[in-house]
Amino acid sequence: MCGIVGYIGDREALPVLINGLKRLEYRGYDSAGVAIMGEGTNVYKCKGKVSDLEKHIDGREHSGSIGIGHTRWATHGEPNDVNAHPHVSYHGKFIIIHNGIIENYARLRDKLIERGVKFKSETDTEVLANLIEHIYENGSVDAELAVRLALSKVIGAYGIVVMCTEEKDKLIAARKGSPLVVGVGNEEYFLASDATPIVEYTKSVIYLNDGDVAIIKKEQLNLKTQRSDETGPTVQKLSFDIGEIDKGGYEHFMLKEIFEQPQSIEDTFRGRVSSEESEIRLGGLYDVLPRLIEAKRIIIIGCGTSWHAGLVGEYLFEDIARVSVEVEYASEFRYRNPIIEKDDIIIAISQSGETADTLAAIRQAKEKGAIVLGICNVVGSSIPRETHAGVYTHAGPEIGVASTKAFTCQVTVLAMMAILIGRKKGLISDNKYRSLIKEFTEIPEKIKKILTLSEDIKKLAKLYQNANNALYLGRGYLFPVALEGALKLKEISYIHAEGYPAAEMKHGPIALIDNKMPVVIIATKDSSYEKIVSNIQEVKARSGIVIAVVTEGDTVIRKMADHVIEIPETTNIFAALLSVVPLQLFSYYIAVMRGCNVDQPRNLAKSVTVE
Ligand code: G6P
Repeated sequence: MCGIVGYIGDREALPVLINGLKRLEYRGYDSAGVAIMGEGTNVYKCKGKVSDLEKHIDGREHSGSIGIGHTRWATHGEPNDVNAHPHVSYHGKFIIIHNGIIENYARLRDKLIERGVKFKSETDTEVLANLIEHIYENGSVDAELAVRLALSKVIGAYGIVVMCTEEKDKLIAARKGSPLVVGVGNEEYFLASDATPIVEYTKSVIYLNDGDVAIIKKEQLNLKTQRSDETGPTVQKLSFDIGEIDKGGYEHFMLKEIFEQPQSIEDTFRGRVSSEESEIRLGGLYDVLPRLIEAKRIIIIGCGTSWHAGLVGEYLFEDIARVSVEVEYASEFRYRNPIIEKDDIIIAISQSGETADTLAAIRQAKEKGAIVLGICNVVGSSIPRETHAGVYTHAGPEIGVASTKAFTCQVTVLAMMAILIGRKKGLISDNKYRSLIKEFTEIPEKIKKILTLSEDIKKLAKLYQNANNALYLGRGYLFPVALEGALKLKEISYIHAEGYPAAEMKHGPIALIDNKMPVVIIATKDSSYEKIVSNIQEVKARSGIVIAVVTEGDTVIRKMADHVIEIPETTNIFAALLSVVPLQLFSYYIAVMRGCNVDQPRNLAKSVTVE
């Protein structure tokens, strides 16, 4: 949440900062700002998007080759020009951008006010700026020490970058709980909340660890702990290219990412699933495999779409690997006092690898002695670094706030893990294994076929673009798909939608059915097909409108439903991977027709780094 960028080198800083902020806008987009140091120091900020900031700066002085920038998702203080970052300290000596929350800001603020400091904004960040300046002025210390001392008084989470107008040769960056990546160029450094603003300049990056403070000059970077011990930075190579973070000719990132799914699943398979091998290879789990095989229980944690993937995982692990599974919202798990037995394994699922609640739940589980595995997409993010082992999804950068390809790749990884464990436990015969892998590796081609239906789905979307409510129903593996379909619709089109297990419809939602609300029923052929056919009849008997996602060639439901979307046949266990795709497209087209900002829906952010 909130995107931060920084630059120090010989280039003009402004274009680097603006480009970077545009790439990070998915993290928050209610206000934006930059500060640039050259001969003088200029700070520009305003409510709105980065494009509004560009207009605001246009024609004003902005030269300088050191700078910081911020795109905000408001926590403390409404989105307006004053609360936008960067924040400048009372006497103008420190300029700061911040991602995270300073929990004890009110106490610190009161103390500073008692000492004569005046505040302009309602933000916790301005408190930090003033605290640093207060220590700098009263403690006769340099900027670096002032930052470190201030941070020692702070409770909460932060990724910050600080400029000092009296020490114009450096940026000071620090993190605790909010991500920060440093790009290492040739006599220049880049800073950002994730690597997407950096990759067009350099592929060499340093991921800061919690507690790190980086003092960055044009020609040198010193990494220290908060107590000033030097730590050696580890430079890593980025594995993605600039092309992967452009829209590539699509109108929106979300549409591009929906269409990328065949490729991203192939990428997730690569080197792991092959019909020539007798088992699935997941190198990241090698060391923990014996524990996984013996696990009595798996607890899956995640938030949002990742939690939905976890629900599919529950069906997969219980079905194929015969291990009992619980799926928990990370935010609930961490605030209970969960019982974790020694044979339990925790799997944390997160696209970004930075979700604050998921991270906190991981830490709690580790404290209780659990083995924690991660399924993440962003390489080098916090969750993969804090878990004992894990598997990357390799979906490639996902920019659209509504998750699409990350979901199908998470389900792909969960299916790989379940098949691997089932096979190791001797539950899957050679023949069964061969047919499963054949089916699994055909999924990308089948998704390609579904994507050819996009024009038909668009026409369907046109009919229901003005709906006020929608209900999504599914059973078994398709119940989490119903939840995900409903989430996609509400988050990008602002139509209220609910997902339900189809049989539960009778216990409440049936009362909502009328001739206006579309009921989307995922009714592909599986073991509960007959039951879901009955559910369709129940909806039709009450004059409901049924949009059914069915298996190709289904003539039974075609006769009952108002609309059908036919998708290729697959086995139960891979059904979620196919059936979610038409629902993603349906939501996408409805949102576009309603004039919604598909890639940046109101109030949302892609990476939720606040609790
Ligand atoms: C936010 C995003 C969702 C995402 C969720 C969990 O709410 O808007 O798309 O599913 O966070 O994010 P994670 O990165 O942990 O998967």
